[in-house]
Amino acid sequence: MKSSDIRQKFLEYFQQKDHVIIPSASLIPENDPSVLFTTAGMHPLVPFLLGEDHPEGHRLADAQKCLRTGDIDEVGDKTHLTFFEMLGNWSLGDYFKAEAIAMSYELLTDPNWFGLDPAKLAVSVFAGDETTPKDEESANLWRAQGLPGQRIAFLDKQENWWPAGGKHPGPQGPDTEIFYWTGAGEAPEKFDPEDKNWVEIWNNVFMQYNLSAGGGLLPLAQKNVDTGMGLERMAAVLQGKDNVYDTDLFEPIIKEIEKLSGQVYDSQSKAGYSFRVIADHLRTAVFVLGDPQGVCPSNVDQGYVLRRLIRRAIRHAKNLMPNQDLSSVINVIIQKYQAVYPELKQNQNRILTEFAQEQNKFKNTLEKGIREFNKIYQKVGQVSGQDAFVLYSSYGFPIELTEELAKEQGQEVDRETFAQEFTKHQELSRAGAGEKFAGGLADHSEETVKLHTATHLLHQALRQVLGDHVEQKGSNITTQRLRFDFSHPAKMTDQEKQETQQIVNDVIELDLPVRFEIMDFTEAQKRGAIGLFEDKYEKMGGKVKVYFIGDKEYFSTEVCGGPHVEHTGQLGTFQIQKEEASSAGIRRIKATLT
Ligand code: ALA
Repeated sequence: MKSSDIRQKFLEYFQQKDHVIIPSASLIPENDPSVLFTTAGMHPLVPFLLGEDHPEGHRLADAQKCLRTGDIDEVGDKTHLTFFEMLGNWSLGDYFKAEAIAMSYELLTDPNWFGLDPAKLAVSVFAGDETTPKDEESANLWRAQGLPGQRIAFLDKQENWWPAGGKHPGPQGPDTEIFYWTGAGEAPEKFDPEDKNWVEIWNNVFMQYNLSAGGGLLPLAQKNVDTGMGLERMAAVLQGKDNVYDTDLFEPIIKEIEKLSGQVYDSQSKAGYSFRVIADHLRTAVFVLGDPQGVCPSNVDQGYVLRRLIRRAIRHAKNLMPNQDLSSVINVIIQKYQAVYPELKQNQNRILTEFAQEQNKFKNTLEKGIREFNKIYQKVGQVSGQDAFVLYSSYGFPIELTEELAKEQGQEVDRETFAQEFTKHQELSRAGAGEKFAGGLADHSEETVKLHTATHLLHQALRQVLGDHVEQKGSNITTQRLRFDFSHPAKMTDQEKQETQQIVNDVIELDLPVRFEIMDFTEAQKRGAIGLFEDKYEKMGGKVKVYFIGDKEYFSTEVCGGPHVEHTGQLGTFQIQKEEASSAGIRRIKATLT
């Protein structure tokens, strides 16, 4: 079955079960600083899992763009990818375990749908711990579908809880994971979760708890279902391939790399590994560069991840094809995915230009690194692990290249010292990243909700002061401050900043009511709502949630998931702390409420 059919069938199945299909949200989380990228389908839906009304109702399904960088160094094996598509169905306080499990089973095994062999299925369910009971209910529901007891494993919170381990505040609960036997012949009678021939294809999460910032596990007002099926893995299973890179999702990409390198892809060889790294990293880079929120390579946050991905791909390309330009691979990826993700076509120029620039920059880095290497070598006659780390951290010069150059001189680089320096550096940056875990919509704390409403006021105030060209380009809220990116060609003058701040404080003073209505996209447009990013709502013919701030005449009308305060008087005093450039044509404001 073609991957496009898998995606479509999944969505069709849930559509005929009364789910509304919603478009993929951005890869860059809006209003949530707790992660750099959308890592699961649930991410953009957190406010609704916590009880906000979703404009499309209580049953949803989607294909969500996801990016996970935790295991970037493992990419290139059979199952790890940085970018992937997660197919998901959602119950927001509607159905729960019984219906979810019955639907999963039918979609997977019914010959009219995916038609998988029921004799090759196994599941895991939550074993229970001191705070939460064993999930006997799910196990019984699987038995009722015909699964033998031997094919049901009970596992701990690290394995059968989402998010894994249950340590991060926010909505969560036990899950049940579905596995398919991909080994030769019949599946063994007993399910062994450690056996890699059992591939996890789908996860059903039963979100019925909220872990508070203080650590208390509280029942949620509504019981939700959140599921995630990795499209790439499912394609491998349904296409009888033992790895995701052999599926049709990667076929044209691998072909293009073959063309550029003049080599035939051999999955077992060292060159084959480079093929996979290039294919994975460039596919991810295309989706990040082409995202409606448009990230460019840089030295911080998402831009840094993007830079690492592109550079690692180029480094691997160097082994296969000295001095080749990878732009044609970028083009092939855009072509492969543009029908499902039209933003790639729309942003094609930006993707190609930014990629070419980064490619050139990295070539310069390589030249500079080689010069520095030679300098050190000429001075002291060797390059130590520490030197290798300086080359890496100051010039972005990869350790593998330092090793190659050293080898040419008949020397070895002390990897251990390099690794020690590297770990020290990682700990430092992790400490920085840790700060990102405060706040966000997941905690719904009073501070973040207030700052969220203040963001709407700021957005509108900027439009009044600077003009209607001002559009939101990004937003990031912690418990301490808001950060708002918007389109505007010039630095704001002191007077403009002053005026903007005054308008926001005046509206707070007026203590205007905040409320929302759910309406059709076209109605929202007619009523002048801002924040209607992209054409995604229109394309889906969907409903949107619109927040109004004001009495009869509205100060602000903006599309948003919420939540917000009820009266602007709750906000306190608004203060702009900083106004600076974010990227070309985009300004950034950081502001606080006191
Ligand atoms: N949120 C669940 C996952 O990502 C479905 O596995």
